[in-house]
Amino acid sequence: MLLRIDGVAKNFVGRNGVVAALDPVSLTISPGEFVTIVGPSGCGKSTLLNLLAGLAAPSGGQVLADGRPIAGLDRRIGYVTQQDNLFPWRTLRDNVALPLELAGVGRAERAARAQEWLARVGLDGFADAYPHELSGGMRQRGNIVRTLIYEPEVILMDEPFGPLDAQTRLGLQALLLRIWQQTRPTVLFVTHDLVEAIALADRVLLMSARPGRILRDEAVAIGRPRDVFFIHDDAEFRRLHDGIWRDLAREVTV
Ligand SMILES: Nc1ncnc2c1ncn2[C@@H]1O[C@H](COP(=O)(O)OP(=O)(O)O)[C@@H](O)[C@H]1O
Ligand SMILES: [Mg+2]
Repeated sequence: MLLRIDGVAKNFVGRNGVVAALDPVSLTISPGEFVTIVGPSGCGKSTLLNLLAGLAAPSGGQVLADGRPIAGLDRRIGYVTQQDNLFPWRTLRDNVALPLELAGVGRAERAARAQEWLARVGLDGFADAYPHELSGGMRQRGNIVRTLIYEPEVILMDEPFGPLDAQTRLGLQALLLRIWQQTRPTVLFVTHDLVEAIALADRVLLMSARPGRILRDEAVAIGRPRDVFFIHDDAEFRRLHDGIWRDLAREVTV
């Protein structure tokens, strides 16, 4: 799926007047591309993902999927939110299989696909566990599987590893890259971590402070598969990181 964001602006009308969240933003994302978005808190990153998910409408411009405006939820576009949102009363198996259940897939096939996906992320022994019996990293793997299981063409991810400790994050980054290389969905991944943004992406977008604009759009010319545990040893990584960091530091200065 080809995504096009064409002069998209977003304003919110609140008690204290109008808040401009996004200045007109334009970009094109190719099928299978892994794009990360970094920018200061409150610059409109989640707003941009909500527009792509069809959860909000732009105040100006158009958000297009294969040339057609996105209007409402589209099953070809999956959304992994920052909070895991697993239902506490459902087992991990039934949580991750929920999208299949909603799509009318039969019980046996749901169980088989849940089993297969849980195994791929190292959770095969935990299908019958409830969310409170799992660590934060395990819950987040479940959260991601719940989107991957119906194989959307586009996966939006909003700081999915944000609340996790540094080692768990690296493990999940490596896991995400392995899965992405197998099926090559389009990924739009928001993070506040520039190292993570470069380690994962084909392309890093740097947004300005609110109202968000795209300040930089940098191709990441680091070969794949990548070793996220040692990416900082890579000369191209350091060059990109130093360059983007200067601009990011300026945007986060209050
Ligand atoms: N539903 C909403 N109603 C009013 N203002 C909102 C709403 N969602 C976001 N905003 C405002 O838009 C700006 C961008 O928010 P957001 O996209 O969540 O930023 P980010 O994800 O980059 O931290 C913020 O100033 C925020 O207060
Ligand atoms: Mg956000």
